[in-house]
Amino acid sequence: MSNNNIQIFDTTLRDGEQVPGCKLNSEQKVVIAEQLDLLGVDVIEAGFPVSSPGDFESVNAISKIVKNATVCGLTRAVENDIKVAAESLQYAKRPRIHTGIGTSDLHILHKFKSNRDAIIERAFDAVKYAKSFVEDVEFYAEDAGRTENEYLARVCEAAIKAGATVLNIPDTTGYCLPSEYGAKIKYLKENVKGIEKAILSCHCHNDLGLATANSIEGVINGARQIECTINGIGERAGNTALEEVVMVLKQHPYLNLDTNVNTSMLYGMSQLVSDSMGIYTQPNKAIVGSNAFAHSSGIHQDGVIKNRETYEIINPVDVGVTESAIVLTARSGRAALAYRAKNVGYELTKLQLDDVYANFLRFADQKKEINDSDIHQIIETSKVYQQIISA
Ligand code: KIV
Ligand code: ZN
Repeated sequence: MSNNNIQIFDTTLRDGEQVPGCKLNSEQKVVIAEQLDLLGVDVIEAGFPVSSPGDFESVNAISKIVKNATVCGLTRAVENDIKVAAESLQYAKRPRIHTGIGTSDLHILHKFKSNRDAIIERAFDAVKYAKSFVEDVEFYAEDAGRTENEYLARVCEAAIKAGATVLNIPDTTGYCLPSEYGAKIKYLKENVKGIEKAILSCHCHNDLGLATANSIEGVINGARQIECTINGIGERAGNTALEEVVMVLKQHPYLNLDTNVNTSMLYGMSQLVSDSMGIYTQPNKAIVGSNAFAHSSGIHQDGVIKNRETYEIINPVDVGVTESAIVLTARSGRAALAYRAKNVGYELTKLQLDDVYANFLRFADQKKEINDSDIHQIIETSKVYQQIISA
């Protein structure tokens, strides 16, 4: 792995599956894990094995079929969680245990009714115990986004001392600003003793719509792993969207940060997760929404027909979408109508187009979107129709 390679840790099957009503069965999880492996993600968080026998089974089944990615199981800083996770991961080629504990004062005082020193001890013991089963142990400091940096650095030092290979810095509540989250990662890079023995990981939630920006700021400041989900699904407002961070890094090569993801599979992956979970993807969702490459206003359509790059920064083919769409609505112009008419077999002269366009606007004012069969009807009911067919 080069120092500029960002590891993509997919948690669709764990944090993503925490969305109410989106439970997947073990077969569906295996199908998604197989596709994630082909997509080229580096780590698949397959579940939280101690949480239910079903989750244990899924992690176990995924461990058997994944060929390239590391397979990871989540635990609390609890011995039995860790033992059960190790058992469920026993067939994985590259197993990872992901253990951790809340580190913000809110979590320490209210969830654990404990104190800072005792939490450091629990973090150390959990990592040490996980290391007795697997070499690759990731430690998460839950609510790191609201944890004071100096204390967070002490927790990270303890985790590294116990053998952690990855330090996950979750903005669990999606609270941080990008500048704040980036500064936190930089602070840890510069102040944690032994930090060269581990990589820092960004795990951001989207409560303020900042998950992607925060993750990118994290890697700019030295993190080398991003935790994310397909379509950004996850609890509340969701997690960082995998397709977004991967495409941000691809579209900004001067950042000199890359991933191993085969981006041409992103759209198919999005559809698979959306269909399996029964969660509809919002049309304006970046990269994979149905409108992400659709143009409906006359000015934009004219530009895109002349040169796609006038209004698109991503080639749709790069993310697995066959082509940009020119959508006909009452806001569309003559260029778009001529383009779509040509696609269904009519080559219109300028004069013919003027007449057909007037007819088109009458139709379009009555209908949200004009489809191919409407185009035939619009042309066949226009005054110049005889001229067009004899042309
Ligand atoms: O958001 C979070 O803090 C988490 C951890 C359990 C990793 O999902
Ligand atoms: Zn999370």
